[in-house]
Amino acid sequence: MYLIDHDKLRLSVAPMMDWTDTHCRVFHRLLAPNARLYTEMVHAQAVIHGDRDRLLGFDTVEHPVAVQLGGSEPAHLAQAARIAQDWGYDEVNLNVGCPSDRVQAGRFGACLMKEPALVAECVAAMIDVVDIPVTVKCRLGVDEQEDYDLFRAFIDTVAATGCNTFFVHARKAWLQGLSPKENREIPPLRYDWAYRLKRERPELTVAINGGITTTAQVHEHLQHGDGVMIGRAAYHEPYVLHEMQASLFGGEPAPRADLLRAWRPYVEAQLAKGVALKHLTRHVLGLFHAQPGGRAFRQILSEGAHKPSADWSLVEQALAATQRELRPAA
Ligand SMILES: Cc1cc2nc3c(=O)[nH]c(=O)nc-3n(C[C@H](O)[C@H](O)[C@H](O)COP(=O)(O)O)c2cc1C
Repeated sequence: MYLIDHDKLRLSVAPMMDWTDTHCRVFHRLLAPNARLYTEMVHAQAVIHGDRDRLLGFDTVEHPVAVQLGGSEPAHLAQAARIAQDWGYDEVNLNVGCPSDRVQAGRFGACLMKEPALVAECVAAMIDVVDIPVTVKCRLGVDEQEDYDLFRAFIDTVAATGCNTFFVHARKAWLQGLSPKENREIPPLRYDWAYRLKRERPELTVAINGGITTTAQVHEHLQHGDGVMIGRAAYHEPYVLHEMQASLFGGEPAPRADLLRAWRPYVEAQLAKGVALKHLTRHVLGLFHAQPGGRAFRQILSEGAHKPSADWSLVEQALAATQRELRPAA
């Protein structure tokens, strides 16, 4: 197994179910050429038995792109990791952070924070059969776990397999009583635990996730960790992702309209394949967030993109609305 250069992990976009599909990732790639991109979580059994084109299909521009797997059966995860490698993924990431009831019932996701030995077994089984990096995305703990040493012991147990890269969603999860959404908001963020892990285990690559919304915060976290992983901010306000890219890797930020038009050839190719415009444009609704015409942009796309005849001209109409509001009133 090879390891990922620290530099290649400075910026990544978090795996998000229903959101970071291939259309979204292609758009994010245009905004952030240096970011690592993650798929939605896909269960190992689905990879083995399901429709792989639908579950694993991606566009070559997405590289470097990682598949995120869910599961807790080492043999299945190994098989799924192998399949993902054969599909051309650059990394396999194991989900040890999702607290949903469905996921708990399947004994994977965040509840695995309580079973470090099993996670290590899963990771070791995957490392055994692939050459691409195997990484883990985890929480600080679950339920009553309030102990930094327990968190570090979890990491140490998993790292003993040779896995050296951890994406730390820097809050714990409550397995009972909170919805997944609440579990992304209510348990307090404790970045200090992730920072301390990096200090005490400098040989590990530690990327920080949770609540990061501005370029200034990115720079602050990079003083203490190797990378940042951005979730909701990248989705709701995609231009922030572009600003982070420019600030970290250089280059002048491009205007929003130029970024969107760079996506046009992809969108038209998808339309030609029969993909409805709404499946594409839903990922860009926040591009003009808090900008003149931003509401009109969102509204034109939301109202028009579901129509069967909708094509790129609707996007141009939405862009025109942002231009109109820039012009001073006559
Ligand atoms: C709609 C949505 C879906 C998510 N799905 C996943 C997932 O499939 N796998 C995962 O590890 N985390 C998932 N997450 C959690 C994010 O990856 C991330 O850890 C979390 O949102 C905190 O980062 P943020 O504050 O930057 O959004 C999801 C989050 C959202 C908002």
